[in-house]
Amino acid sequence: MKVVIFGLGYVGCTAVGCITSQGHHVVGVDVSAAKVEALNAGNSPICEPGFGELIAKAKTDGLLSATVEVGDELEDADIAIVCVGAPSGVDGAHNMSYIAQVSRSTAAAVKSGRAKPLTVAYRSTMRPGTIEMMIAPIFRATLGDAFEAAIELVDNLEVLREATAIDDYFNPPKIVVGTKDGGPSANMDALHEGIDAPGSENFRQSSIQGIMKRVKAKGIEVVIYEPAMAEDSFSGSKVIRNINAFKQECNVIVANRMTDAIADVA
Ligand SMILES: NC(=O)c1ccc[n+]([C@@H]2O[C@H](COP(=O)([O-])OP(=O)(O)OC[C@H]3O[C@@H](n4cnc5c(N)ncnc54)[C@H](O)[C@@H]3O)[C@@H](O)[C@H]2O)c1
Repeated sequence: MKVVIFGLGYVGCTAVGCITSQGHHVVGVDVSAAKVEALNAGNSPICEPGFGELIAKAKTDGLLSATVEVGDELEDADIAIVCVGAPSGVDGAHNMSYIAQVSRSTAAAVKSGRAKPLTVAYRSTMRPGTIEMMIAPIFRATLGDAFEAAIELVDNLEVLREATAIDDYFNPPKIVVGTKDGGPSANMDALHEGIDAPGSENFRQSSIQGIMKRVKAKGIEVVIYEPAMAEDSFSGSKVIRNINAFKQECNVIVANRMTDAIADVA
């Protein structure tokens, strides 16, 4: 995958090092020319054990570049990750202007006729509702009706501790990916492939697979509703991407969370 990371502070740099180490191409974007120059020279803008080695390897493998202007880098990108600061003001309120600024420049740089949506993941600290009330309107104002098809907005908060940030990235207690309908994001699943997070409510790793096995053992056919899954089958069960077709085909629905989509059959 190609991943563009906005903000090359502690969070962004950790993501740059860890994501390139998984073999993905990363473009780092920051308004600080000094940070961009450091990364392009294969040097670390932050002090974190193991990070220098990750950056040097990413440069040698040709997986990393950095820039102060995103330019056309989003055209063939799969994911953009927003890691810019949201500093607290004297009254305790977050300054959301950097997040708004990056959202505006991302919306302007995205072509409305993309073959597949760009996933824009927010790791910056934000209050609940920020995506719906501030970020989605920014994208809608620029892209109009093309917004929903061109962009997938997700929350992707994480906690990294200085000095153990790389280990925290690869061994999180939980991966949090908030999507519009509460379902999984195929791009974020691919980004977190191979990262074991025992506390995550992820379809591919969740207890629902154990339930599927037990139901199938009784000779009962199991079908899966999973709009984000490209495959037509998973673990021997048919995958249905249309909720109405799914509801018509099932006699019983087992869900790991309640959503509006199944409120009429609950
Ligand atoms: N440190 C943590 O453990 C942690 C964990 C999860 C989330 N967060 C959140 O992630 C965000 C980043 O944290 P950090 O510690 O890396 O912050 P930081 O201040 O070290 O880095 C932020 C970077 O964003 C850059 N930036 C600002 N405006 C920009 C723009 N328009 N385009 C591109 N780059 C821009 C800045 O130059 C800076 O390099 C914060 O909102 C923080 O609260 C932090």
